Amino acid sequence: MTHRRVEHGVVRGRRFEILLDGRTIVAYEGETIAAALTAAGVTTLRRTPKQGHPRGMFCGIGLCWECAVVVDGVPNTRACQTLATPGCCVETQEGLGRLEGEA
Ligand code: FES
Repeated sequence: MTHRRVEHGVVRGRRFEILLDGRTIVAYEGETIAAALTAAGVTTLRRTPKQGHPRGMFCGIGLCWECAVVVDGVPNTRACQTLATPGCCVETQEGLGRLEGEA
Protein backbone atom coordinates (compact mmCIF):
# COMPACT_ATOMS: atom_id res chain seq x y z
CA MET A 1 0.00 0.00 0.00
CA THR A 2 1.28 3.45 -0.89
CA HIS A 3 1.79 5.83 2.01
CA ARG A 4 1.40 9.47 1.01
CA ARG A 5 1.45 11.48 4.23
CA VAL A 6 3.90 14.26 4.95
CA GLU A 7 5.95 12.97 7.86
CA HIS A 8 7.72 16.07 9.15
CA GLY A 9 6.46 19.42 10.36
CA VAL A 10 2.80 18.36 10.66
CA VAL A 11 0.84 18.12 13.90
CA ARG A 12 -1.99 15.62 13.61
CA GLY A 13 -4.92 14.76 15.78
CA ARG A 14 -5.58 11.37 17.34
CA ARG A 15 -4.92 8.33 15.13
CA PHE A 16 -7.79 5.90 14.52
CA GLU A 17 -9.02 3.45 11.91
CA ILE A 18 -11.84 3.50 9.40
CA LEU A 19 -13.00 0.77 7.04
CA LEU A 20 -13.07 0.92 3.26
CA ASP A 21 -14.88 -2.04 1.70
CA GLY A 22 -13.89 -4.04 4.76
CA ARG A 23 -10.23 -2.98 4.65
CA THR A 24 -8.68 -1.05 7.51
CA ILE A 25 -7.43 2.47 6.70
CA VAL A 26 -5.60 4.78 9.11
CA ALA A 27 -7.07 8.24 9.64
CA TYR A 28 -6.40 11.15 11.98
CA GLU A 29 -8.79 13.40 13.83
CA GLY A 30 -9.61 16.39 11.63
CA GLU A 31 -9.00 14.57 8.32
CA THR A 32 -11.67 14.12 5.70
CA ILE A 33 -12.43 10.64 4.45
CA ALA A 34 -10.92 11.66 1.10
CA ALA A 35 -7.68 12.75 2.78
CA ALA A 36 -7.38 9.46 4.66
CA LEU A 37 -8.10 7.39 1.55
CA THR A 38 -5.73 9.42 -0.60
CA ALA A 39 -3.00 9.02 1.99
CA ALA A 40 -3.59 5.28 1.85
CA GLY A 41 -3.18 5.26 -1.93
CA VAL A 42 -6.87 4.76 -2.74
CA THR A 43 -7.78 6.51 -5.99
CA THR A 44 -11.12 4.96 -6.98
CA LEU A 45 -14.00 6.15 -4.79
CA ARG A 46 -16.95 5.36 -7.02
CA ARG A 47 -17.86 3.85 -10.39
CA THR A 48 -20.05 5.43 -13.04
CA PRO A 49 -23.63 4.14 -13.41
CA LYS A 50 -23.63 2.76 -16.94
CA GLN A 51 -20.08 1.72 -17.75
CA GLY A 52 -18.51 1.35 -14.34
CA HIS A 53 -15.62 3.68 -15.03
CA PRO A 54 -13.57 4.52 -11.94
CA ARG A 55 -13.83 8.02 -10.46
CA GLY A 56 -11.97 9.65 -7.61
CA MET A 57 -11.09 12.94 -5.99
CA PHE A 58 -11.20 15.80 -8.48
CA CYS A 59 -12.04 19.23 -7.07
CA GLY A 60 -11.52 18.48 -3.39
CA ILE A 61 -13.84 21.34 -2.43
CA GLY A 62 -17.29 19.78 -2.60
CA LEU A 63 -18.36 20.86 -6.09
CA CYS A 64 -17.93 17.97 -8.52
CA TRP A 65 -19.33 14.96 -6.60
CA GLU A 66 -16.68 12.68 -8.13
CA CYS A 67 -15.77 11.53 -4.62
CA ALA A 68 -19.25 10.18 -3.75
CA VAL A 69 -19.00 7.16 -1.45
CA VAL A 70 -21.32 5.27 0.88
CA VAL A 71 -20.66 6.14 4.53
CA ASP A 72 -22.34 4.07 7.22
CA GLY A 73 -24.99 3.07 4.67
CA VAL A 74 -25.64 6.58 3.33
CA PRO A 75 -24.88 6.86 -0.41
CA ASN A 76 -23.77 10.01 -2.23
CA THR A 77 -21.65 11.23 0.66
CA ARG A 78 -18.85 13.49 -0.56
CA ALA A 79 -15.64 12.07 0.84
CA CYS A 80 -13.89 15.43 0.49
CA GLN A 81 -16.48 17.15 2.69
CA THR A 82 -16.96 14.47 5.33
CA LEU A 83 -14.70 14.08 8.34
CA ALA A 84 -13.45 10.60 9.09
CA THR A 85 -14.69 9.29 12.42
CA PRO A 86 -13.40 6.29 14.35
CA GLY A 87 -14.79 3.07 12.92
CA CYS A 88 -16.83 4.68 10.16
CA CYS A 89 -17.64 2.23 7.39
CA VAL A 90 -16.92 3.57 3.91
CA GLU A 91 -17.87 1.70 0.75
CA THR A 92 -16.91 2.41 -2.83
CA GLN A 93 -20.11 3.59 -4.50
CA GLU A 94 -21.39 1.71 -7.52
CA GLY A 95 -23.49 3.82 -9.87
CA LEU A 96 -25.98 6.29 -8.46
CA GLY A 97 -26.02 4.79 -4.99
CA ARG A 98 -29.12 3.60 -3.21
CA LEU A 99 -30.21 3.59 0.38
CA GLU A 100 -30.51 0.14 1.90
CA GLY A 101 -33.95 -1.28 1.08
CA GLU A 102 -34.51 1.26 -1.72
CA ALA A 103 -35.54 -0.25 -5.07
S1 FES B 1 -13.76 15.83 -5.00
FE1 FES B 1 -15.23 17.17 -5.88
S2 FES B 1 -16.92 17.05 -4.50
FE2 FES B 1 -15.38 15.86 -3.56
